[in-house]
Amino acid sequence: MALPRHAFFRGRIVPYSEAKVSVLTHALNYGTGCFAGIRGYWNAEEQELFVFRPLDHFRRFLESAKLLDMTLPYTPADLTGALVSLMRTELLREDCYARPLAFYGDEAIGVRLHNLTPEVSIVAMPYGRYMENEEGVHATISSWRRVDDNMIPARGKITGSYVNSAFAKTDAQRAGFDEAIVLNHDGHVAEGSAENFFLVRNGALLTPPVTDNVLEGITRRTILELVHDVLGVPVVERSIDRTEIPLADEAFFCGTGVQIAAITRVDHRPIGSGRMGPIVAALRELFFDVVRGKRAEYRGWCHAVYADATPIPARESGRSAGSPG
Ligand SMILES: Cc1ncc(COP(=O)(O)O)c(C=O)c1O
Repeated sequence: MALPRHAFFRGRIVPYSEAKVSVLTHALNYGTGCFAGIRGYWNAEEQELFVFRPLDHFRRFLESAKLLDMTLPYTPADLTGALVSLMRTELLREDCYARPLAFYGDEAIGVRLHNLTPEVSIVAMPYGRYMENEEGVHATISSWRRVDDNMIPARGKITGSYVNSAFAKTDAQRAGFDEAIVLNHDGHVAEGSAENFFLVRNGALLTPPVTDNVLEGITRRTILELVHDVLGVPVVERSIDRTEIPLADEAFFCGTGVQIAAITRVDHRPIGSGRMGPIVAALRELFFDVVRGKRAEYRGWCHAVYADATPIPARESGRSAGSPG
């Protein structure tokens, strides 16, 4: 992965090499941070970079920060402005990925959420596929359970909770699978290691509700709308039992990183025909048109980087350079 050349850090765009934190940083030691992952899609015909649903991503980012007791001096529009300025400074003219991060930057020993100072950074860099095998993923049901909302807020993107994802992903890959399907504490299907989960059964699209310890995914929401409104397939949000997976006609993971990846086998059993099915194929085609700004009715989700003139916000985030930390 190519490293970025710049970062939005402490309220302004600086060379990437200057966006540094100390080994004592609270979030590095205790996982007290939250993040977002946002994709930018290059549209060659229009010579424009479209950021997909940045306001919705930043809304969830601020909600995750709120769950961590952070008050950030930014609105979703401010952060979108900062991201757009950063992408322009990076001269990004290809598909890319942005990583906003809010973290307790104090150099302090002592696990807590109070009396700490949040900081915000954003980086953006060229990015392609997250999963090599996105047309035919072989998944396994993980022996790890998804973090429960009474342990770490499951609906937020809290950095510390990704240790749970990392266990599931590494064990799945070391066992020869591409990805893990993680069950929640009740034994219902929650999601992938960093993706939401859907299956198609008896002509309807099913996904776990947001009260089943899943991340409130932006791609998930996008898909629920597209599948219902454009493909005309009924969508149902309800708990899913693991034995519904081998009985499914189609299944897929979705998320900003993975986009839409067809799951064609789970624990050596084929899903449906064992190949990507017609609903997933149609949905992928539609999704990639939508995110690249090619569907007029969904153009409002696509934020143009070069046509947009939103200035970078002047406000500082977190401690200033001279504060004790
Ligand atoms: C645990 C988890 N679930 C689901 C998702 C999908 O969310 P989104 O579509 O907002 O990227 C992600 C990735 O961001 C994730 O990390």
